[in-house]
Amino acid sequence: MKKSIKPSTYLAPVPAVMVSCGDMETSDIVTIAWTGTVNSEPPMLSISVRCSRYSYELIRKTGEFVVNLVDEAHLETLDGCGVVSGRDTDKFKKFGLTKQACEHVKAPAVAECPVSLECVVRQTVELNTHVMFVAEIVGATAKEEWTENGRLQIPEGELIAYIQNRYTQTGGTVGTYGYTAKK
Ligand SMILES: Cc1cc2nc3c(=O)[nH]c(=O)nc-3n(C[C@H](O)[C@H](O)[C@H](O)COP(=O)(O)O)c2cc1C
Repeated sequence: MKKSIKPSTYLAPVPAVMVSCGDMETSDIVTIAWTGTVNSEPPMLSISVRCSRYSYELIRKTGEFVVNLVDEAHLETLDGCGVVSGRDTDKFKKFGLTKQACEHVKAPAVAECPVSLECVVRQTVELNTHVMFVAEIVGATAKEEWTENGRLQIPEGELIAYIQNRYTQTGGTVGTYGYTAKK
């Protein structure tokens, strides 16, 4: 029997990503777990950001940001960017990260992250606690070992997932899309 519980943000697992924003001079990185794919053609995703964040100000101003996927090697950086504000700390400097110029947006990508998705905001949805930016992915880069014929191939177990307040490992594939139909 299932028991009734208080409705909340229980959706899990979700990705936890580092979102870089601003431009090559004035920039910030914010850790975001309220993110998801929302459209296929054009490829689109959303991020939900509280308006008290410094990153919110930059994204609102430029209408652009970069979603950087995070591997286990950068877990401490992922957490660190989520507990200090860019208002008083240069997170690229503090965490020894490198700004990588993007082809399609002015916001810098985080060079150390294996995948960076260059995004342009298409819709802004004012919610109660957060503002949701719905954005088109207009460019993408991935480290060479993670690509095959110009497409992304994420290796087993490298990326971090987030469940409630825990960072967890991924990996241990237990099926593939539509495998039941092939039986
Ligand atoms: C794992 C994790 C996930 C987070 N997810 C979100 C989120 O989805 N939206 C948000 O507004 N803040 C989120 N935060 C909090 C911000 O990352 C944090 O307040 C950050 O210091 C804001 O930095 P800024 O002021 O430079 O923008 C998250 C923090 C952590 C550690």
